[in-house]
Amino acid sequence: MPASGRRDLYYGLHRQPVTEMDRREHWEQVYATRMAEKLGWYTPRLDRPLEWVGELGLMPDEPVIDVGGGASTFVDDLVDQGFESITVLDISESALEVSRKRLGHQANLVMWIAADVTTYRLPEQRFALWHDRAMFHFLTKTGEQVAYRDNLLRALRPGGYITLGTFAPEAPPKCSGLPVQRYDVDDLRAFFGDELELLGAQKELHVTPGGVEQMYQFVLFRRSEGHGPADGE
Ligand SMILES: C[S@@+](CC[C@H](N)C(=O)[O-])C[C@H]1O[C@@H](n2cnc3c(N)ncnc32)[C@H](O)[C@@H]1O
Repeated sequence: MPASGRRDLYYGLHRQPVTEMDRREHWEQVYATRMAEKLGWYTPRLDRPLEWVGELGLMPDEPVIDVGGGASTFVDDLVDQGFESITVLDISESALEVSRKRLGHQANLVMWIAADVTTYRLPEQRFALWHDRAMFHFLTKTGEQVAYRDNLLRALRPGGYITLGTFAPEAPPKCSGLPVQRYDVDDLRAFFGDELELLGAQKELHVTPGGVEQMYQFVLFRRSEGHGPADGE
């Protein structure tokens, strides 16, 4: 079936995914049909978040999660740094499979979860670090954004850290053909800031393998020690 036909099937009248299944199909198709190194967001190493992780001084046994990790090499660097409790969550099983193959026998050191982060219930107060590059910005509806934040606040330990990278206001309005919500530091602080303290912020220009410039906004947050689960459970 021609690409345009598939798109109509996925996006319907509103030309954007409307259900969790649409979203999963979109990402499955992306990773099943294109090489990871050719995808617009590909970068061989996630320098900014890795530098922050290095500065945080986390212990190797502290649990970390890469949300919307896709086929990213972030997990490889965490394994290399000796982290013993790594989770990668992504809506696309095909994306996780790319990372598992690349890691070989080391893939057994990682917990892989194929799920939508807006609906999957992560364990309470589990993670010392929540990392997300270029996943949160695909959530363009308030309800989805709030569901993401609720899951984050449920799953993150008091005193835990978040490294988040989204398209900045000057980036294109779409990523992977889907509309994205673009953020500057103040936007991110306004949305997450009640419970999270901003420790760092940096913009970084990403150039896609096709030569398109995309400005990212990276932030580092810390959850205060006093906060418990978001929904008071
Ligand atoms: C632009 S890619 C970024 C991948 C990776 N973080 C990186 O930096 O290379 C966005 C990723 O988010 C995943 N994703 C999109 N929506 C998601 C959702 N609701 N829950 C979990 N993963 C999602 C996609 O499958 C994709 O792997």
